[in-house]
Amino acid sequence: MSNETLTVPPTAPGTGDVPRLRIQGVGRDFHTRAGVTHAVAGVDLEIQRGEFVAVIGRSGCGKTTLLRMIGGLLPPTAGTIEVDGNNLWRGESVEPSAVTKLGFVFQEANLFPWLSVLDNIALPMKLRGVAQTARRARASELAALVGLTGFEKSYPRELSGGMRQRAAIARALSTEPELLLMDEPFGALDALTRERMNLELQRIVLETKSTVVFVTHDIPEAVFLADRVVHMTPRPGRIRQILPVTTPKPRGVDLQTTPEFNDIVRQLRADIDEED
Ligand SMILES: Nc1ncnc2c1ncn2[C@@H]1O[C@H](COP(=O)(O)OP(=O)(O)OP(=O)(O)O)[C@@H](O)[C@H]1O
Ligand SMILES: [Mg+2]
Repeated sequence: MSNETLTVPPTAPGTGDVPRLRIQGVGRDFHTRAGVTHAVAGVDLEIQRGEFVAVIGRSGCGKTTLLRMIGGLLPPTAGTIEVDGNNLWRGESVEPSAVTKLGFVFQEANLFPWLSVLDNIALPMKLRGVAQTARRARASELAALVGLTGFEKSYPRELSGGMRQRAAIARALSTEPELLLMDEPFGALDALTRERMNLELQRIVLETKSTVVFVTHDIPEAVFLADRVVHMTPRPGRIRQILPVTTPKPRGVDLQTTPEFNDIVRQLRADIDEED
C-alpha cells in the first residue's frame, strides 16, 4: 500500500482538533484622507475550545480592530478567520451561521434604557424568535448567573456601572455563544468593582465553558483571567509575543500576591516599555 497516508480521514469541522478560532495572516488597512493606516498586519492565532485569551497592548495597536474582524463587524483586508473550521468572511460579507456563535461585550454596556434588565437580557432571544415563556425563564436564569436576581424589573439607569456590565454579559450569553468577544468590558469601573467582576467573569466562563477573547489595557487583569496573554504592538498592529499563564483555575485574588503572578506581570510591563 504505497499511498496509505491518503486514506487518513480529514478532521470533521467542529470536532476533534479544529480550533474554535483560527486566524491566519489577518490584516486590516484603513484608507483615509491622511493616507493608509496598517491597523492590523500578519496576525496568526489559534484559540482552542474553552480557552481564555487576553489581548493587551498600547492604545492604537489594533486590539479593537482585530476583535471587530473576529466579531463579524469589520471585514479583514488580508488573511482568513475560521470559526470551528468554517470561514467567517466571504469577501466583505460575513457568514451568518458563524456569527450566531459569537457574543459581544463592549466597553460600555449599551443596554436599551427603555427595556428592563430582564427584557434587555432576553432581547437577542426575542430577535431569534424564542417564545416569550422560554426566553423569560432563560433570562431569569442568566440574571441569577450574573448575580442580578431581584433586579430583573429594574431599568438600566437604576443600576450601578458594574451591574449594567453584568447585565450586558448576561445578554451576550443569552444566545449561548461559543465564542465570547469582550472589548475592555470593565474599563469604566472602579478598581474594587473591577476585581469583583473579574472573579464573576471567571466563574461564569468556567460554568458555561465559553471560549473568550478579552481585550484590556490592564496587565494584571489579563494575567489573572487568561490562559494565554497576547501582546500586540502598533503600526502595524502585530502580535509581538504570546505568554502562557498556567496557574490552575479557578484563581483567587490571592494569586495577585504570588511571585509567579508578579513575574509574568513584570515581564509583560518590561516588554511594553521596551517598545519605546
Ligand atoms: N474606522 C477607522 N478608520 C480609520 N482608521 C481607523 C479606524 N479604526 C481604527 N483605525 C486606526 O487603526 C489603528 C488601531 O485602532 P484600534 O481602535 O484597533 O486600536 P486599539 O488597540 O483598540 O486602541 P485602544 O487601546 O485605544 O482602544 C489606530 O491607528 C486607529 O487610528
Ligand atoms: Mg480599542
